[in-house]
Amino acid sequence: MAQLQLNNIVKRFGPVEVLKQINLHIQDGEFVVFVGPSGCGKSTLLRIIAGLETQTSGEVRIGERDVSDLAPSDRGIAMVFQSYALYPHLSVRGNISLGLKQAKTPQNIIDERVEYAANMLALTDLLERKPAELSGGQRQRVAIGRAIVREPDVFLFDEPLSNLDAALRSSVRHDLAKLHKNLNATMVYVTHDQVEAMTLADRIVVMAGGVIQQVGSPRELYEDPQNRFVAGFIGSPKMNFVPAIDGPNGSEIAAEGEASSYELGLRPEHLSLRDADHPEGEPGVVQFSEYLGSESFSLVALDKGHQVLVRHSPHEIWNIDQPVKVIQIRDGYRFDRDGKRI
Ligand SMILES: Nc1ncnc2c1ncn2[C@@H]1O[C@H](COP(=O)(O)OP(=O)(O)OP(=O)(O)O)[C@@H](O)[C@H]1O
Ligand SMILES: [Mg+2]
Repeated sequence: MAQLQLNNIVKRFGPVEVLKQINLHIQDGEFVVFVGPSGCGKSTLLRIIAGLETQTSGEVRIGERDVSDLAPSDRGIAMVFQSYALYPHLSVRGNISLGLKQAKTPQNIIDERVEYAANMLALTDLLERKPAELSGGQRQRVAIGRAIVREPDVFLFDEPLSNLDAALRSSVRHDLAKLHKNLNATMVYVTHDQVEAMTLADRIVVMAGGVIQQVGSPRELYEDPQNRFVAGFIGSPKMNFVPAIDGPNGSEIAAEGEASSYELGLRPEHLSLRDADHPEGEPGVVQFSEYLGSESFSLVALDKGHQVLVRHSPHEIWNIDQPVKVIQIRDGYRFDRDGKRI
């Protein structure tokens, strides 16, 4: 296994700069997840690490080596894609061992590694089946097995679970977490899924517009976002943002059109609902309420003109068009005009 270093990586496609001075140091054995909006450059960065794309400038180091000019096959990496593209005419065993066969690995070593990977991924009983005879989750595990037997220094995953349904996703996600623990491997993982990012990552890298916005543990990013973008991106449902001014009792939400001095970020769980005759809080009217079993969310249109989503107990019932008061039960986050955390 190995550490991975990205130094001043820039990538241009023609005139368009899609990666701008990316600097990142991933520790040996670390699980790092890239997140960010579509088109922000996550896959491009992963492909540059893999050697499937060439950076315009900058350096990729794996272990102690500068691999910038090496072919993908010489970098000690294995990549797993969203479309796992198994060979339909080969058995599971054939698919997993193909790369090793092509590299002329001795048969006894191939057998040993296939057995090890199949065991880890619960594929032992399926080794002689063809891909068509497997479920989506099983196929995805075969694609991961194909990566494991190559014993790479670094695993690269580009949205490997996004073709799976919710139940399979969470079961293969648990497999991946176990795999990381067993192999103690360095893993870089791209996803759109908040739950995958929060649960798998040692550190999350939030990207936007080809720039790293923040790097930190899931808890750091959720509790201590450095800017409005990260605050809004990490967390589902999203943080509420309202213009605010400092009042006699702390921050006050500004009315629409009124001058504000900063923006207040309030997560749905920072807010709570009270009846309209409650002495405190911002008056508003419930727009809709969503019951999810273990929790509920209600969207409230404040009289001041903004809408906020409030998380509350599923036992509280709030009805559409009901007047309410929204109270703040925890301090929010403050952002200046440039979106920087104050
Ligand atoms: N071969 C290419 N030629 C020109 N532009 C490209 C090429 N590949 C990617 N791009 C552009 O680079 C930007 C980054 O693309 P990339 O695939 O890295 O985004 P992403 O973050 O992986 O997005 P998604 O979440 O949708 O997969 C996009 O604007 C994309 O259109
Ligand atoms: Mg992508």
